[in-house]
Amino acid sequence: GAERAALEARIRELLKAQDAVLVAHYYVEDALQALAESSGGYVSDSLDMARFGHEHPASTLIVAGVRFMGETAKILNPEKRVLMPELEATCSLDLGCPIDRFAAFCDQHPDRTVVVYANTSAAVKARADWMVTSSCAADIVAHLRDQGQKILWAPDKHLGAYIKEQTGADMLLWDGACIVHEEFKGAELEALRREHPRAKVLAHPESPASVVAQADVVGSTSRMVQAVRDMDADEFIVATDRGIFHKMRQLAPGKRLIEAPTAGKSATCRSCAHCPWMAMNSLTALLHALETGAGEIHVDPVIGARARIPIERMLDFTR
Ligand code: 13P
Ligand code: SF4
Repeated sequence: GAERAALEARIRELLKAQDAVLVAHYYVEDALQALAESSGGYVSDSLDMARFGHEHPASTLIVAGVRFMGETAKILNPEKRVLMPELEATCSLDLGCPIDRFAAFCDQHPDRTVVVYANTSAAVKARADWMVTSSCAADIVAHLRDQGQKILWAPDKHLGAYIKEQTGADMLLWDGACIVHEEFKGAELEALRREHPRAKVLAHPESPASVVAQADVVGSTSRMVQAVRDMDADEFIVATDRGIFHKMRQLAPGKRLIEAPTAGKSATCRSCAHCPWMAMNSLTALLHALETGAGEIHVDPVIGARARIPIERMLDFTR
């Protein structure tokens, strides 16, 4: 209503006054995605968010997503101010891979090339040879395999297992998972597919193997959005955070989108596929960050400089 319009108008003013651009992930609330797009910002997957922020001339980047996305932006752009609506917005993959345990694991396997997923802390990235996101992980691992390298992979075991199967690379996997995607269940998905035999199945590779095995398309959030837009089908079962439906509906308004079933599905929780940390982002939190400067991301410059190496490798590889 009128209140939301006033909130948005105030945010737009402050974005302009502070030379700031808003970069959002597909999982944050519709209002933030819409505002990013209508204010000269951008909505995408984690790889393209990093690239957009890095190439954009604004002196302040506002990252609506989770902590690792803000940290990656800061590591790539130490001279820019990076703000997040909510600094506490973390990720179960990041939480499940603390630097001390991770460093000890790496020390035990000095013969392996260390490849980490974007969903990690700056300190973990600083210990890595390569960073990847789900949109480029398979290509980068295949490249390392071709060079005869053995890989230590962290932290997502489902994505790791999928890439290992796709590439046949020698990969040692850390035991981490995304609490949102881990809830998708293969047996329930099979039953749902019987009810919707024409539906194409799209799955994010953080989902368990029993789900990924049934998917017509496995890929990053951007890849899934593209699939809904481009595939010659009018029904899709989608195994990822339901925040993504905003963009899918926008690009393919006539198509039917069905949420993949989760174990937690119940009367009170129709779908549990929504990341609690992504959900912390809101227009109100964004306004607060802009008004007070709260939510500024700081990365230790020494750690940041080291963490930049694996991130830039990925950006150069995918250029
Ligand atoms: P994408 O890189 O595919 O956007 O994934 C990020 C993420 O956190 C998925 O849960
Ligand atoms: Fe992390 Fe999963 Fe949330 Fe993505 S959806 S930010 S992987 S907890």
